[in-house]
Amino acid sequence: MKKRSSQSRCQDSSCDVGLVGLGVMGQNLALNFEEHGYSVAVYNRTWSRTEEFLAKVGPDKRLCSARKPAELATLLKRPRKILLMVQAGPAVDEVIKDVLPVLEPGDILIDGGNSHYKDTERRLEEVASRGILFVGMGVSGGEAGARSGPSLMPGGRKEAWPEIQPMLQAISAKAADGLPCCEWMGSRGAGHFVKMVHNAIEYADMECIAEAYHFFVVGCGIGPREVGEILEEWNRGDLESYLIEITRDIMTVQAADGTPLVHRILDVVPQKGTGRWAVEAALELGVPLPVVAEACFARDLSQWKEERMRASRVLLGPQGILEVGCLEAGIVHWEKALYVGRIVAHAQGFRLLIEASRRYGWELDCAKVAQVWRAGCIIRSAVMERVRSAFLRNPALESLLLDEYFRRELGRHEEGLREAVATSIRLGVPVPGLSSVLAFYDGYRSSKLPANVIAAQRDYFGAHGYARQDLAPQEIFHTDWATEARKAKEKMRNRSR
Ligand code: 6PG
Repeated sequence: MKKRSSQSRCQDSSCDVGLVGLGVMGQNLALNFEEHGYSVAVYNRTWSRTEEFLAKVGPDKRLCSARKPAELATLLKRPRKILLMVQAGPAVDEVIKDVLPVLEPGDILIDGGNSHYKDTERRLEEVASRGILFVGMGVSGGEAGARSGPSLMPGGRKEAWPEIQPMLQAISAKAADGLPCCEWMGSRGAGHFVKMVHNAIEYADMECIAEAYHFFVVGCGIGPREVGEILEEWNRGDLESYLIEITRDIMTVQAADGTPLVHRILDVVPQKGTGRWAVEAALELGVPLPVVAEACFARDLSQWKEERMRASRVLLGPQGILEVGCLEAGIVHWEKALYVGRIVAHAQGFRLLIEASRRYGWELDCAKVAQVWRAGCIIRSAVMERVRSAFLRNPALESLLLDEYFRRELGRHEEGLREAVATSIRLGVPVPGLSSVLAFYDGYRSSKLPANVIAAQRDYFGAHGYARQDLAPQEIFHTDWATEARKAKEKMRNRSR
């Protein structure tokens, strides 16, 4: 039987959605749309990439190809919906410049890359003058997620949502209760901001898990296979998550010579920027995000490989391995430590969302954010459902750490975190992520911090003023500290005479 040409059904205004950028993510999303009954018009700047893709998938798919943006525009139903899956940065602006002239008012452009939310806000304004509705959409789940169900975080021009909601929710992952992992996040840059915070939590969780591996290998002298068994066990409890699951798998893989592959991997890791952006946003908004900052810095420190090698030969410190029997204790403590770490990382991330939403007027719904992070994305875990419940119980919840359920959980597990960190410090095993979790936890639960000393120091050298505990906080005082200290010293001297 003669096969129908893939292009025979490609008439004008016949395609439901356009997809620009045929990297692996773009290809997989195109196939995902197609599988859910949507006809897709694909366009890639380099035509050969389009040809390769179509040849690979065969002629029976509802896929149409365009050689030029104008052809893409012709193929699409009105209002046109075009998903851009190109590398974040200047490439997004270039593609927008390419397609903008062929679009009409009311058409919808969705940027599905890991764009910076401020770029999204700029682009939204730029295309608005042409009547184009811009949507910045976080996409999580990697290549596999894109193909079988990603977590999607759209935000921007709300008028676009009714048009794109059915198709985006159709291709998204579904949580255990059947709800789609795709909801409208909020106006302007909200979608990409939410994705940035997703990645920030991802950085923090990955760092803490890596520290656990390091502790067991360096501190307890066991190998990756045994670490994998510990992770397997943990994955059946509170720590159940995609990241624990993949780390367990990583522990089992061997190089050609039978040694663990993970030990062959150079201990140097790059970062594309989303973690750092989150820390920058946190600094701008005055929201502590220390675990993510530590995770970023840990990656930076990893880059100094050669320098670390030199330092390792000259800087002293403990290098011991735990006494026999401590492995059992380590397993118990580290499970609790990672659980607290995960809760604290989520608390910090969600607090950043709350503050950004308040400041920028996005009206983010934290329960909805947790809802779309329950499946499909990299940080999906058993904890996410509990996070969602906490925000459903109290939509005005300031911090997850104050939620009734999490408060109890932290109380039951914080001792394990303390033990894990203390043991690591004694052994000289670096645990920047987890130490920062503990420091934040202890700081957050402190009604008194030494900030009074810092306030006095800056008043001393810069006359910056300070408020007093016993008076109204808006009343600002200044002390001539040097003179007062001199007087105090004299008084002491006179007294001792
Ligand atoms: C996801 C991932 C994805 C990507 C990260 C990697 O949610 O699917 O987060 O977006 O893997 O951007 O980031 P780094 O290169 O910075 O680790």
